[in-house]
Amino acid sequence: MTRKILVTSALPYANGHIHLGHLVEYIQTDIWARFQRMRGNTCYYVCADDTHGTPIMLRAQQENITPEQLIADMSEAHQRDFGAFNIAFDNYYTTHSDENKAFAEGIYLQAKADGHIESRTIKQAYDAEANMFLPDRFIKGECPKCGASDQYGDNCEACGSTYETTELKNAVSVVSGSTPTEKETEHLFFKVNDFKDFLSSFLESGAVQKEIANKMTEWFETDLKAWDISRDAPYWGFKIPETEDKYFYVWLDAPIGYLASFKNYCDNNDASFEDFWNQDSEAEVYHFIGKDIAYFHTLFWPALLNAGGYRSPTGVFCHGFLTVNGQKMSKSRGTFIQASTYLNHLPAEPLRYYYAAKLNNTAEDIDLNLEDFQQRVNSDLVGKVVNIASRCAGFINKKFDNKLSASLHDPQLYQQFIDASETIANFYEQRKFSQAMREIMKLADAANQYIDEQKPWVLAKDENTLASVQDVCTQGINMFRAIICYLTPVMPALSAQSATFLNQPITRWEDLQTPLLDVSIASFKPLLKRIEKDSIDAMLAENTKPLEIAKTPTKKSNKKEKTAPSTIDIHDFSKIDLRVAEIINAESVEGADKLLQLTLAVGDEKRTVFAGIKDAYQPNQLIGKLTVVVANLAPRKMRFGLSEGMVLAAGSGDNGIFLLSPDSGAKSGMKIQ
Ligand code: MSP
Ligand code: ZN
Repeated sequence: MTRKILVTSALPYANGHIHLGHLVEYIQTDIWARFQRMRGNTCYYVCADDTHGTPIMLRAQQENITPEQLIADMSEAHQRDFGAFNIAFDNYYTTHSDENKAFAEGIYLQAKADGHIESRTIKQAYDAEANMFLPDRFIKGECPKCGASDQYGDNCEACGSTYETTELKNAVSVVSGSTPTEKETEHLFFKVNDFKDFLSSFLESGAVQKEIANKMTEWFETDLKAWDISRDAPYWGFKIPETEDKYFYVWLDAPIGYLASFKNYCDNNDASFEDFWNQDSEAEVYHFIGKDIAYFHTLFWPALLNAGGYRSPTGVFCHGFLTVNGQKMSKSRGTFIQASTYLNHLPAEPLRYYYAAKLNNTAEDIDLNLEDFQQRVNSDLVGKVVNIASRCAGFINKKFDNKLSASLHDPQLYQQFIDASETIANFYEQRKFSQAMREIMKLADAANQYIDEQKPWVLAKDENTLASVQDVCTQGINMFRAIICYLTPVMPALSAQSATFLNQPITRWEDLQTPLLDVSIASFKPLLKRIEKDSIDAMLAENTKPLEIAKTPTKKSNKKEKTAPSTIDIHDFSKIDLRVAEIINAESVEGADKLLQLTLAVGDEKRTVFAGIKDAYQPNQLIGKLTVVVANLAPRKMRFGLSEGMVLAAGSGDNGIFLLSPDSGAKSGMKIQ
């Protein structure tokens, strides 16, 4: 019977890049979804960017761009990173969408009509200078317990104690630097306690891992506190219907983004939203999440779904956190590694394999030990798996005109490979990937042992035994094919390359049941390279560079981190179209204290560019000057208009800004090379 399955991963925040910690989750989900599809089940995998909330609003302000531009840029970057790691979403959407707005409003209004929303006046920290309420994260001060400075509003990183924001000493708003005050405001609350019985049976149903369910049920000893779902303007999010200027708290519309992304998929494809989300749905719905957000997904989210008249998830699967070399990822140790930094030095699929080899169905943390990673990949994937093919392929290619034998040399041995099928499938199904990988490597060991014993390189030297080389290598290649078939959910690109070599697609779990016999294969090309320590070192080195720069004291602590460039080659450099430009007009920009609006002539073309150089230059000083512009930078929508390029200047602003200009004689429009 084919199953109908919908899986999701948590929606990454749109104010940060994807890092190796995130990837644990997306890789875990993707492996599971690919496995289901190989088994012949229908399995949709949807996700989206989580785009709302104060941090995103403030970051866009700092960068002088609209939040829409920020989330568009980030969505592109996220999807590029996910794509490079072969994460195959059926749909990657955004929570800032019409669908999401409609679902959020619908669920809220239904909950309200049924009496599950209450309104209450609360006191909240307020920044009178910035005219906004402050989330805990945006207040810093001295720890009331140990006195450490520069600590966040709710816990101290130095001594680990937790406290109320009001207890912080010498508290300041991160937004304006002023001292926060308190202000009363009316908020809307979702009465989670109305769903207490429903939630306790949900937690007992087996949909949630025991360890997590037990933790959650601890909350059930008393009434569940109502959940504050509103925020005051200014806030970046959806306005709450029937209010003047209140907005849904980002965590209300974030999980609803799962519905919205799937709806958007169904509207554009042949799939039915109702089949999956109606109360009486027989489809399966699974959310893969990190343990830090279990509370939202096992209490608030099922309650919201229930309030809106939707079915509950079949399962919420929590994984643990990634540590690197045994410790929390850390910027100062260079182990806070972004996906793109990793990709600058290392191939994607070995990381997928390493995570698979470490993952199980619990919420235990998993460690990426970089030395172990290198060894494991080199010994398992290069030394064992790919080696089987490279030991056999040459003979078939050269001595037998690419042709495999018509029968297997050791059918019993091949039967062992077939017999492992359900064991391995069960491990995948239960998310015990580490055990699945162990079974697969056992098969690889058996295959190598077979080749060691048969010694085709010896048989090939003797005319009398040459014919049996074809049989031995046919056996070897078929065992390789079975292993690759089992590894396909983890290493889809390796599988595709192997399929090219085998002249036969590998798409279904049962493909290996029938061995490949009496057919031609293609010539063998190396499938994977060993991982060198130099690459790992170079990745870590790239990763620590930005910090040395960030460490030099800057006055503004809330500026975004500057990242130092990694090395690029001449080809990368030649992508940048640098041109001489003449500044034909310059004026200040109302509401922006650092920006000048420049009109540039680049050859015959006119461009508008916003530049953060107002501290250093009077507008009229600049008119008539030549400078250098990045002419092929994608236009960016800023709060004040469209910026169509970037002028180059030295310095950071703290010690002066110096616009670059060519020596006299250069003409506007000239290419810089
Ligand atoms: N935006 C929320 C999720 C909303 S879902 C309706 C969020 N975003 S996140 O970007 O911080 O994290 C996305 C996912 O990555 C979460 O499931 C989180 O647990 C996971 N991880 C983030 N850092 C991680 C590690 N270091 N290790 C493993 N998973 C990690 O939370
Ligand atoms: Zn402290």
